[in-house]
Amino acid sequence: MDIIPAAIWVVIGIAGFLFVIKLLYGLSIALVLPVTRGALYVSTARVRVGAFLEAVAPEPGQLLVDLGCGDGRVLRSACRRYQVRAEGYELNPMAYLKARLLSMGHAAVRIHLKNFWKADLSAADIVCCYLFPDVMVPLACKLRDELKPGAIVVSCNFPLPGFSPDRILRPGNSRTNDPIYIYRIKGASVPAP
Ligand SMILES: C[S@@+](CC[C@H](N)C(=O)[O-])C[C@H]1O[C@@H](n2cnc3c(N)ncnc32)[C@H](O)[C@@H]1O
Repeated sequence: MDIIPAAIWVVIGIAGFLFVIKLLYGLSIALVLPVTRGALYVSTARVRVGAFLEAVAPEPGQLLVDLGCGDGRVLRSACRRYQVRAEGYELNPMAYLKARLLSMGHAAVRIHLKNFWKADLSAADIVCCYLFPDVMVPLACKLRDELKPGAIVVSCNFPLPGFSPDRILRPGNSRTNDPIYIYRIKGASVPAP
């Protein structure tokens, strides 16, 4: 007899917990929307992460940066498979917390609760992003100003205006084959003697 009410309380408890998580998820997206400008917290499918990392083939010790790292999956995957150093910037508090929790024990992963527009990218060898069309023009300017020659940029879904891609990947099936643009920053032009 007592079992039925207890089971109902458990179900109500779980439903309440899930509701609070959903609410916090929505609130944390709304909180940072004025800065993220449409780049919501949506993770890249693992098959896409695997495909662009394989295409870029990072070398051990290189610095890979994810601008808006979400749950940090790109960072962990790159560290695990290519022994890079990986840094992520994330403003959404829920995504940041999840990234920090999942990345515990990954010594080469650093995650900052910080606006990436304020980050200096000059040391990065590889920069990844999955953002939104509204920010791609200023992002292209920032990358052009800060990245060193030879650095690689991977942009999921949205192209970088003014850059021409070295490669465009369309990995996986019809649910995961949005374009992934890969760019290499050209060397500085040598001044004429
Ligand atoms: C579409 S998600 C991509 C997450 C992750 N890079 C991935 O591929 O799975 C974009 C993320 O960028 C974050 N973001 C957008 N603008 C940002 C900014 N200026 N500084 C830090 N994070 C930002 C958002 O909060 C969101 O979590």
